[in-house]
Amino acid sequence: MTPVSLIFRIVVRITGIMLVVASGYAGAGSISTAGQAPHERCGYCHELDGNSRMEGFPRLAGQSFDYLVKQLHDFRARRRAGTMQATAELLSDAEIIAVARYFNAQTPSATVNASPATHDRQTAEHLYRRGDSARGIPACSSCHGANGEGRSGIPRLAGQHAAYLETQLLDFKRGVRVNDGEGVMRSIVSAMTEHEIHALARYFASFDSRVSASLKLAP
Ligand code: HEC
Ligand code: HEC
Repeated sequence: MTPVSLIFRIVVRITGIMLVVASGYAGAGSISTAGQAPHERCGYCHELDGNSRMEGFPRLAGQSFDYLVKQLHDFRARRRAGTMQATAELLSDAEIIAVARYFNAQTPSATVNASPATHDRQTAEHLYRRGDSARGIPACSSCHGANGEGRSGIPRLAGQHAAYLETQLLDFKRGVRVNDGEGVMRSIVSAMTEHEIHALARYFASFDSRVSASLKLAP
């Protein structure tokens, strides 16, 4: 981990703790959060329209409804590690549905996050569109969609922050993130080099999210 990302993680952690402490005070009556919709709390880190500008905070705008619901349950049940556990513990089942519906309905912003160097783009494009059967790597597009739009239960990658995606792929590779069902992502990523992961993260972050307009799958 680079010093910058370490410092970032520490700052995020402290912010999360402060929010939990603040919500404790709110319970004691010193700060009233009455009238605040649950998604407004998310906006502190993910922006109210779900198009977070800070790279450590994933974008939620237009993200698959089923995927959002699953991640929030996973954080709450501590099947997925991270800062979000403390936030998810404060959500009821009904609030999980409400925030997932809210962020699924937001429109992803047009911002293009990263553009890989030409050689890296070719490496990433090949893996994304064709995979590498010799190493047992399926084409990412077969699940995540031709434009990185995702589908029910499978996350949208288009326009997501490259640094966030790279961390997730490395976490799958190192067994830090283990909430991918039967290990679908862990087995795919285990065959990939860290350089390929870096190239891929920058590649799908550069997809124009407007091409793969939000999938409005919420019930
Ligand atoms: C203190 C900042 C903070 C707040 C407040 C916050 N989040 Fe997060 N969220 C994060 C960070 C950082 C991550 C990246 C994963 C991690 O480290 O836990 C994340 C990850 C997520 C993810 C996983 C996204 C993905 O692509 O897998 C979802 C879903 C999510 N947050 C939803 C929410 C919702 C809904 C709320 C409000 C109820 C919320 N977050 C409030 C910081 C925050
Ligand atoms: C067989 C279907 C399938 C294929 C093929 C696949 N994925 Fe995934 N991917 C998933 C599922 C399902 C998840 C969500 C896991 C969970 O529930 O947490 C996921 C999650 C991810 C995430 C985390 C996103 C986030 O917001 O946190 C990244 C990044 C990712 N995949 C990249 C890739 C790449 C790169 C490839 C190709 C090398 C690929 N995937 C191939 C099914 C697939």
